[in-house]
Amino acid sequence: MAITVKTESQIELMRAAGNILGRVHLELSKELKEGMSTKDIDVLGEEIIRSYGCEPSFLGYQGYPASVCVSVNEEVVHGIPSAKRIIKDGDIVSLDIGVIYKGFQSDAARTHGIGEISAKARRLIADTRESFFRGIEPAVAGNHLHDISNAINHYAVRHGYGVVRDLAGHGIGRNLHEDPIVPNYRQVKNGPLLKSGMTLAVEPMLNIGSYAVKWLDDGWTVVTADRTLSAHYENTILITEDGPEILSITDEELSSYGS
Ligand code: MF3
Ligand code: CO
Repeated sequence: MAITVKTESQIELMRAAGNILGRVHLELSKELKEGMSTKDIDVLGEEIIRSYGCEPSFLGYQGYPASVCVSVNEEVVHGIPSAKRIIKDGDIVSLDIGVIYKGFQSDAARTHGIGEISAKARRLIADTRESFFRGIEPAVAGNHLHDISNAINHYAVRHGYGVVRDLAGHGIGRNLHEDPIVPNYRQVKNGPLLKSGMTLAVEPMLNIGSYAVKWLDDGWTVVTADRTLSAHYENTILITEDGPEILSITDEELSSYGS
């Protein structure tokens, strides 16, 4: 399938979907506390998504049974919410959420620390986020897709992390997953030309240890092979002539990080 270039009216809907998703993440993050189950987080997340008149994109997607992917500590992505899994002080919790608004999708992920977390966990979360921002610096029309991959990889490797290879970002629009695949690790070829109006979900997953991952028997949960901590940071972005426009983040979140 060719990479879709969105029209101005489609871009408006992608902006609206992204704006809502940014708010969903911000609202949900403020409710996180130790003692909640990962299922509580999912239920609350779904409520917030629906309060904006959106549908949760992940619910039922290829059989996925929840609205929010909740991945704790060594879980990389696609953790399945459970009433039995209680989050505790010192955990790091990755929340991956997709919303559908008027037929258009937005996809974003954040990793949060619960209570007091270790210095290395804090660095992992901040560096994973930073690898996203470094990664999208070259996301300008006229550059190539793999400029993004190489920029993420460069930052992550320089800081000593394992960059997950078995999962990647993706094009997004009417469908959650569209062409192209957006790898987070170093690529030899340039990849496709970036054009104004392309929308991508860019989503580095960094591990404190090796890049290698495994799938648990539930068929979904991805964990680090060496069981070291992993963090995830994702936004839906729009390619323009002037650079990337991040669709799925609120001004409040942007200013809280000073970037
Ligand atoms: N951000 C994840 C991805 O792009 C979300 C998919 S989870 C699923 O793969 F449950 F919907 F599969
Ligand atoms: Co995604």
